[in-house]
Amino acid sequence: TNRTFTMIKPDAVADGNIGAITKMIEEAGFEVIALKKTLLTKERAGQFYAVHAERPFYADLCNYMSSGPIVPMILEKENAVADFRTLIGATNPANADEGTIRKIFAKSIEANAIHGSDSDENAAIEGSFFFSGTEQF
Ligand code: GTP
Ligand code: MG
Repeated sequence: TNRTFTMIKPDAVADGNIGAITKMIEEAGFEVIALKKTLLTKERAGQFYAVHAERPFYADLCNYMSSGPIVPMILEKENAVADFRTLIGATNPANADEGTIRKIFAKSIEANAIHGSDSDENAAIEGSFFFSGTEQF
């Protein structure tokens, strides 16, 4: 499809970077389809990242992702999933290309400012984790 899902993570929200990051997203050609500010419980963070349940960083990740408000969004653009992952850069900001959102805003491999879905299938699942059908018009 032409949609992906993203979340501005707690570190970037706490730093006051919602506007700057959303501006970069829109300037890169993505249309914001759905957007809100919300807070995950540790349990709901665990559900969102269930695919990482066996990884050593899972507990830390769930604590971090429930440590403050986040801004989930559904975005639309041709080739959305791949182009968005290019825009955000590598998971570890130390390895992220210049000009990417993570290079500019991320603090560490964990507090890395933003999420981007890794497949069309997961984009749809993750979008529906936060937004009802009528919010995904
Ligand atoms: P997302 O877009 O957030 O899914 O990032 P990603 O696809 O680039 O990375 P991945 O799905 O492998 O990991 C999910 C998230 O777990 C990352 O974005 C980080 O916040 C966190 N994470 C990944 N690797 C590590 C690690 O080695 N240590 C810690 N503490 N956190 C990690
Ligand atoms: Mg991922």
